[in-house]
Amino acid sequence: MKIIPGPASKQLGEKIAELLNAETVPVAFKTFPDGESYIRLEGKVQNEEVFIVQTTSPPQDAKIIQLAFIADAAKRNGAKKVTAIVPYLAYARQDKAFLPGEAISIEAIARMLKASGVDSLITVNVHQEKVLNKFQFPAKSVSAIPLLAEYFKSKGYVGAFALAPDKGAMQIAEEARKVLGGECGYLEKRRDRYTGQISVEKKKFEVSGKTAIIFDDIISTGGTIAAAAKILKELGAEKVYAACVHPLLIGDAEKRILEAGVEEIVGTDSVPSHVSKVSIAPLISKEIREHKSG
Ligand code: R5P
Repeated sequence: MKIIPGPASKQLGEKIAELLNAETVPVAFKTFPDGESYIRLEGKVQNEEVFIVQTTSPPQDAKIIQLAFIADAAKRNGAKKVTAIVPYLAYARQDKAFLPGEAISIEAIARMLKASGVDSLITVNVHQEKVLNKFQFPAKSVSAIPLLAEYFKSKGYVGAFALAPDKGAMQIAEEARKVLGGECGYLEKRRDRYTGQISVEKKKFEVSGKTAIIFDDIISTGGTIAAAAKILKELGAEKVYAACVHPLLIGDAEKRILEAGVEEIVGTDSVPSHVSKVSIAPLISKEIREHKSG
C-alpha cells in the first residue's frame, strides 16, 4: 500500500502516511502558462494499492483535474487499485436538477473519476449521503463531527448546546450532542434558488446564559452561521462558537461570522486554512486500515 499526497492535501496526506507507517509517492505538479495542469508521480506504484489524498476545495476544477491525472498516472504505471480520498467533495450539493436545464454536476464528476482510473472513493461529511449513489464504484463518507466535538470537550465545553443551522445538519448536531452531553436543536433555513439569499426562521431554545456551538458541514460565505449566531445571541446565549468540517471561508466569511458574535471558528484540515485546528488524519488512517484489500 502507498499513499499519494496530492498537491491540494500534501500535509494531510503525509500525516496519514505517517500514522499508517506507509510509504508516500510524491507528486510533482505545475500549472502551465496557459492554465493547464501537469502532474508526475515521483515514485513506483507497480502492483500497489494506492490511496490518493486530494481535497477539492476552491479552485475546485483545477483540483479535480489534478486528482483525475494522478489516478490516470497511477493506473498507467501499474497500480492495481486506486482509492481517492477526497476530504471535501466539491459539487456534492448539485446532486439533482433543482431548476429545468441544470446539469447534475456530481454525477458528471463521478463518471469522470471512474474513467480516469479511480476504483473507490472515501470522503468526509459529504453534503448528502445519497450523492454517493451517483458513483459507479464503492463510495463512502465518514464523519469528522465527533473529532470537532472532542475539541470543544477538551476545552471544557461539556454540556454545550449543539445547534444545526438547518434541518439537513440535524444529524451532525445529534452526533456532536453525543460527545458534548448537552442538548441539541436545529433551525429552519430557506435558500432562494435564483439569488442564493438565505432566510432563517427564529426558534426558541433554552440557551440563555449558556455556551452554544453551531455545527455544520461547510462554511462557504458564512451567511448560514452568521444568521444562526445572531439568533442564539438574541436568545441570550452567553458564548457562541462555530464548528465545521470544511472551512471554505469564501470572501469575508470569517469577518461576517465574528461580527455576528461568534467567539471562534473551528474547522478541520479537510480544507487547509488558519481555522483548521482539528486534523482528520486519524479518522482517515483508521478508514484506510479497514478499507485496504487483504
Ligand atoms: C448547506 O446546506 C450547507 O450545509 C451549509 O450550511 C452551507 O453550504 C453554508 O453556506 P454559507 O456559508 O454560504 O451560508
